[in-house]
Amino acid sequence: MITCDSSVQLPFQSGAHGLECDGVSVQSIVESVGTPAYIYSASAIRDAYRAIDDAFSAYPHAIHYALKANSTLALARLLKALGSRADANSAGEIEVALRAGFAPRDVVFTGVGKTGAELDYAIARDVNAINAESAGELDRIADRARAAGRVARVALRVNPDIDARSHPNISTGLRSNKFGVALQDARGIYRDRRDVKSLQFVGVHVHIGSQITTAEPLRRAAETLTTLALELRDDGVPLEHVDLGGGLGIAYEGRPMIVPSEYAAAVLPELRRANIPVVLEPGRAVVGHSGALVSRVVDVKQYPDGRKFAVLDSGMTELMRPALYGSFHRILPVSPRQTAETPWDVVGPICESSDVFARERLLPDLCVDDLVAILDTGAYGAVMASNYNRRMLAPEVLVDAGSWAVIRRRQTIDDVLALES
Ligand code: LLP
Repeated sequence: MITCDSSVQLPFQSGAHGLECDGVSVQSIVESVGTPAYIYSASAIRDAYRAIDDAFSAYPHAIHYALKANSTLALARLLKALGSRADANSAGEIEVALRAGFAPRDVVFTGVGKTGAELDYAIARDVNAINAESAGELDRIADRARAAGRVARVALRVNPDIDARSHPNISTGLRSNKFGVALQDARGIYRDRRDVKSLQFVGVHVHIGSQITTAEPLRRAAETLTTLALELRDDGVPLEHVDLGGGLGIAYEGRPMIVPSEYAAAVLPELRRANIPVVLEPGRAVVGHSGALVSRVVDVKQYPDGRKFAVLDSGMTELMRPALYGSFHRILPVSPRQTAETPWDVVGPICESSDVFARERLLPDLCVDDLVAILDTGAYGAVMASNYNRRMLAPEVLVDAGSWAVIRRRQTIDDVLALES
């Protein structure tokens, strides 16, 4: 049995008919929808969401699921049904949230470079908070809200200069990163604008990075934010919430990993100093383990030095994380051959040398037409896919209570070319 974070049992396990997702044969699904295909487990998403919700149950909190991790409508609706709210990173994600049934007041809007049109849209919709990234952006929000005859609910994102100790490409809380305003400037920015009539300051925001695997950076972020919130209260700027962002990591390699209860235990004592409700924006920790990308082996070859390649029908166009971050994903044959495990380079079909899922991964023999599942791809998988090489976006399937449904069909060349003249 494959387990990872002590509290999590992966939805993909081998069963009587090869690899199964919550008891449903993966092979039977792809016989119908083809490969490559993303398959998600609804129950894994529910369990992961509830683990976070339960961990914070003793403190007033709102979970704003970070849509950027996976914003397929059916998943957004599933999370809405669980009581989640939404963190959107663009007007497109706000629109997805609204179409999935979230109320505008369920949405916080973050983003390092929001356009004027996006700000107007968020102001008109009256989202719960626009998390501003600079003093200049706050002023633009104020001007646009005034012009529209509205009051914009805003928070300021601070950059606390905390090292999240994650991959450099997904660490966001250091002074060298582009995100937020310097902590020492934050108080003055609020104070200077507290009387602006078209702004209502509802919160402070921080997000120090993603795939954070230890509690200490998250505790320090909570400490910093709470101290700032107390200072702002002294300055006559009472807040409705402090927004801790996302970032909770998951165990891609199956090693022990921070779990939601440890996260809560680290940050709650800090938050209690101000007793202001907390907003959380988890993405990966909610959907990461729920998904697998299922692919077919289309070629197998061996070099004279013995190096063996299995070429899949999915690549960096379907799952960009390994090429972009060198990230690790477990790979399981759907029906493993009963042979010794030997090292395989598992690669995609794209004309890029970085289009590699795994190097020298120990796997049983792989042959053309075999199916493999690339695990833990529920977050930042399908959403980061592209049409590079004119490849079509893969379908997505949701398994729930013993049955499954296509929640996004495979893209066709006609879908893609419909945009062109
Ligand atoms: N809130 C904000 C403001 C964010 O920027 C992010 C992620 C989240 C919440 C959700 O973070 P999570 O809980 O998922 O760590 N593509 C990368 C991850 C980029 C994360 C960007 N921001 C990857 O594949 O690892």
